[in-house]
Amino acid sequence: MNNTELTEIRWTDAVQLASPHPYVLVTTVDQSGRPDAIGIGWFTIVSWSPPMVAIGVAPARHSYSNLEQVPEFVVNFPTPRLSRAAWACGTTSGARVDKFKANGMEALPSGQVRPPTIGGSLMAWECKVVQKMDTGDHRLYVGEILAVKGDLSQSAHLYSIHYRKLVSVDHKAGTIVET
Ligand SMILES: Cc1cc2nc3c(=O)[nH]c(=O)nc-3n(C[C@H](O)[C@H](O)[C@H](O)COP(=O)(O)O)c2cc1C
Repeated sequence: MNNTELTEIRWTDAVQLASPHPYVLVTTVDQSGRPDAIGIGWFTIVSWSPPMVAIGVAPARHSYSNLEQVPEFVVNFPTPRLSRAAWACGTTSGARVDKFKANGMEALPSGQVRPPTIGGSLMAWECKVVQKMDTGDHRLYVGEILAVKGDLSQSAHLYSIHYRKLVSVDHKAGTIVET
């Protein structure tokens, strides 16, 4: 084989090599209003006008149960300051623990939807679910973005590398920083 050739690799390796992925905290609520926040790597913008975003959520997640009860969510972009809490949101389940209390996260009221906005985020996109579709082992929720909030004094948010750690990318400085 010459050194320009590619060989078959495992899908697990391919997904890891495709990183870094932007890493967001998606907030949801159950019918009683109890909030949760899940770490999500599988999300993408899917429409410019109206603005829409899609997230992939596995049925085992507590957030999935919340989204089936209340089809609204907020996509929060955590800053480096929130990295410890952000990692906990991706590794513990809201079925057992109140992630806001356990990780000192501030739940601010959102304007257009019931799930809260996480205080100190770079941005928060408030969404209502307008479509959903099962994709193998995840469910894709497409949300229309009803409100876009942000803090323009900040410029860094988190990305996951190999699903093993988070780094921050500073968009003004164009640098990647270990968190
Ligand atoms: C870097 C990273 C990315 C993740 N991306 C997703 C994702 O896109 N979809 C998903 O369903 N779970 C994803 N997870 C796993 C969930 O965040 C994790 O299972 C979490 O504990 C679920 O919380 P919940 O049960 O409170 O909803 C990711 C975890 C990490 C660490």
